[in-house]
Amino acid sequence: MISRKERSRERVQTGERALILPARAVMTTTTMNVLDTFRLDEKIAMVTGAGRGIGRTCALALAEAGADVACIDLNGESATETAEMIQRLDRRSIGLACDVTDSHAVDRAVARVIDELGSLDIAFNNAGICNHAPTEEMTDEQWLSVIDVNLNAVFYCSRAAGRAMLRQGRDGRIINTASMSGQIVNHPQLQSGYNASKAGVIQLTRSLAAEWAPKGITVNSISPGYTGTEMTLAVKEYHDDWRRDTPMGRLAEPTEICGAVVFLASPAASFITGHDLVIDGGFTCW
Ligand SMILES: NC(=O)c1ccc[n+]([C@@H]2O[C@H](COP(=O)([O-])OP(=O)(O)OC[C@H]3O[C@@H](n4cnc5c(N)ncnc54)[C@H](O)[C@@H]3O)[C@@H](O)[C@H]2O)c1
Repeated sequence: MISRKERSRERVQTGERALILPARAVMTTTTMNVLDTFRLDEKIAMVTGAGRGIGRTCALALAEAGADVACIDLNGESATETAEMIQRLDRRSIGLACDVTDSHAVDRAVARVIDELGSLDIAFNNAGICNHAPTEEMTDEQWLSVIDVNLNAVFYCSRAAGRAMLRQGRDGRIINTASMSGQIVNHPQLQSGYNASKAGVIQLTRSLAAEWAPKGITVNSISPGYTGTEMTLAVKEYHDDWRRDTPMGRLAEPTEICGAVVFLASPAASFITGHDLVIDGGFTCW
């Protein structure tokens, strides 16, 4: 049986502009199978917060779709574990310890991704933290830490990835993790810093999308609703309220988030930029 890669090469050689289309190209059903437009073969991705939760699941999904993936996390050991899981899928992968709130460390991590994997086509800027406190009791440290990881670091990672993609002179994809909390106010937990940080991510995403669209880089965000990860398992006392407030009556599994990330990273999303894709079981409908 002929492999996907061989079929792609054959199509290109015979003038059929199939799988290896630049993101800007127009696709028609006469030239390509729509399912092939979701493939990420020969792409290099980086994922932050890849050590667990949504980041790990999405790193694996990007690899399943064909990409080689650099896994970045504050916890270098768990980033390396994710990288080993990806290597078992027969894709190239490295694990890097990096605090994404340190812009110089982010620049060095992106340089290492390019050194070791060859280029950078997709950046999934996903690392995030949450803290809860009534605003009148919130300390400067609580406010600053959440803004630093959730918003400042998304800027540092987008800037470093954008610079690399512009230098390469070919199309790139940036996907930022926002949250439904960027659009609504969660309850019963009090988290004004988190909500403000995620609203910032959505507007930063739109700003970068407008700036870099003419240069071939799309920038989109995803906005998950409540998802079963260590972040939410830490506050189990809220789960009944969250289920009640979600039309689908449950939390998402991380595997229900990763399809959106693969989609936004793929040629199937070639004309989508500045979009915030909400994945919330209907939470924001009410
Ligand atoms: N779980 C949810 O319900 C939910 C909902 C909406 C949005 N989100 C967002 O999704 C993203 C992932 O969340 P999750 O639920 O997988 O969380 P998680 O806590 O399970 O995983 C977060 C990962 O980010 C890493 N990280 C934290 N600070 C970092 C730093 N300074 N530098 C590098 N890595 C760092 C952690 O080590 C961890 O591996 C976050 O941005 C979060 O805000 C989560």
